[in-house]
Amino acid sequence: MPPLLLLGALLALSGGVPLVFGGVPSVFGGVPLVFGGVPSVFGGVPVFGGVPKGGVACPGGCDCDRTNARCRGGAGGVPRGLPPGLATLSLLRWDIEELPQGSFRHLPALTLLLVASGRLGSVGDGAFEGLGALEYLFLEDSQLRSLPPAALRGLRGLLFLSLADNLLQSLPRGLFQELPNLGHLDLRGNPLRCDCALRWLLRWLRARPGPGPEGGARCHGPAALAGTALALLGPRQLQCQRHELRPFQALPFSSLGAEPFALGGHPGVALAQPAAGACALLEWDQLGGSFRAQRVINGSSPVACHPVPLGDTLLLVVAQLGGGSWVWRRSGGPGSAFVRHQALGAGRLRRPHAVAAARLAGHLYLGVADSSKGGTSTVFRWASGGFYPHQALRPWQRDTHLEFLELGGRPALVLCGAARRPLVYRWSGDAFAPHTDIPHVPDAYAAKHFRLRGSVFLCLTRFLGDAKVMRWEGSMFREVQQVPARGSLVFQPLLLAGHRYVLLGNDFAPSRVFRLGAGGRLEPAQDLPAPTPRAFVPVAVGHRHFLVASSFKGATQIYAHVTEDVGT
Ligand SMILES: *[C@@H]1O[C@H](CO)[C@@H](O)[C@H](O)[C@H]1NC(C)=O
Repeated sequence: MPPLLLLGALLALSGGVPLVFGGVPSVFGGVPLVFGGVPSVFGGVPVFGGVPKGGVACPGGCDCDRTNARCRGGAGGVPRGLPPGLATLSLLRWDIEELPQGSFRHLPALTLLLVASGRLGSVGDGAFEGLGALEYLFLEDSQLRSLPPAALRGLRGLLFLSLADNLLQSLPRGLFQELPNLGHLDLRGNPLRCDCALRWLLRWLRARPGPGPEGGARCHGPAALAGTALALLGPRQLQCQRHELRPFQALPFSSLGAEPFALGGHPGVALAQPAAGACALLEWDQLGGSFRAQRVINGSSPVACHPVPLGDTLLLVVAQLGGGSWVWRRSGGPGSAFVRHQALGAGRLRRPHAVAAARLAGHLYLGVADSSKGGTSTVFRWASGGFYPHQALRPWQRDTHLEFLELGGRPALVLCGAARRPLVYRWSGDAFAPHTDIPHVPDAYAAKHFRLRGSVFLCLTRFLGDAKVMRWEGSMFREVQQVPARGSLVFQPLLLAGHRYVLLGNDFAPSRVFRLGAGGRLEPAQDLPAPTPRAFVPVAVGHRHFLVASSFKGATQIYAHVTEDVGT
């Protein structure tokens, strides 16, 4: 038999005929090299007689001559008692739990090793150590899930490597480090995940001469790259960015409400400091490169300092537990003093808990949730220079939060309270009418909404039960996900540096940051050691992005949103 046919016959035994054989022209590139290499590989003819020649030792399950052995359908490790001068060894349908370091040390003359169509549980670092003459290594169709970085250590003569038809999602950086002669790599038939971890491989492949050395391997994931041939990908196309919130600054005061606003194109944050009896505006100190909080209003115990930009003036609605609630107005531009503008609520508000504002049908509305037993949550409307009661919402419900949103193109309002289910109101033209309540969350503390691809979602916080994400389904909210939570008083969707996040505060454990995935699913991103958070607010300074976390008992925390390219 001519050498090429012998090679074909050997490869055919692997069971991977179409792949391996189909790959031969590209695999072996220069034909003379193949022909040149084969005689040394196959040494004497005939190759597989099935009968040991000249009394050559041969373990059970194998056919051997002095230089070639083919073993089929066995289990355990590499068979013992093979002729020590073997040049080729194939293990077919062999079940191997593990290939530990130096598994082939007793066969130092191997130039071709084929493991195929069986199971290869794991390959240890240095598994092929001692095979300095090995030129062809096939680990194919063997359910191999991963390789450690030093698996191929010592294969200095290796020219060709096939890992085709396994379950490899990635290859560790450094795998080919000590393989100076490796010119061909076959990765077909693996569920490769083309992410940052494979960037090194693309670089390595690009540095090889000749077209398509990766043998037609394709990405299996992530979704955006599924089906893309590795050969068509550039290293920069693999996503290597990591986003993280890192502690940036602690402000030496506790705070409750934190509300973002924008005036004249400048973003700001208003902080309510009940312990200090003040409202403060967060400012970026250009010289110091840090934030400072400028106390702008002295009050009694503000729980909310809600900013309402009105033209070029800034109103601050100061909801207080004692001393009544007030609307303050800045008398001039930034830096000028705030003056009392009007008293709010005239006795209706006894224990205000949260404030929200919205523009509906050309009017400015303000909603205040009241948490006293006898108080009434109220919607106010701005008219002739002041906020006047427009509508009393449900009384006697100890409300904790109120959220304006839009449902099906119509203004709506969700009211949460300790005493009953959240209530959804819809705008009826001149007032909010009760529409439906939200089931299964009797003790929701707050509801914050976000929009994603035309759908409206609500993040519901509960102090005792799990936090929930719900989606509006035309006439009611239906749960899409729940997140374990104990001691959570804030579950905040927000946009930070162009990325959507949802933050789940916690009084007893680190707060959790979720990325907002497709379909409104929350994907865990990181923990945040924010103490007793009550509000999370994004703020941008130039091109830098920060997150402010108010803290009821500790220091107000500011985190920097950091993006790193972790690829090399
Ligand atoms: C608040 O009170 C302090 C101390 O009484 C005073 O120094 C400060 O100027 C006041 N701030 C404002 C904005 O009124």
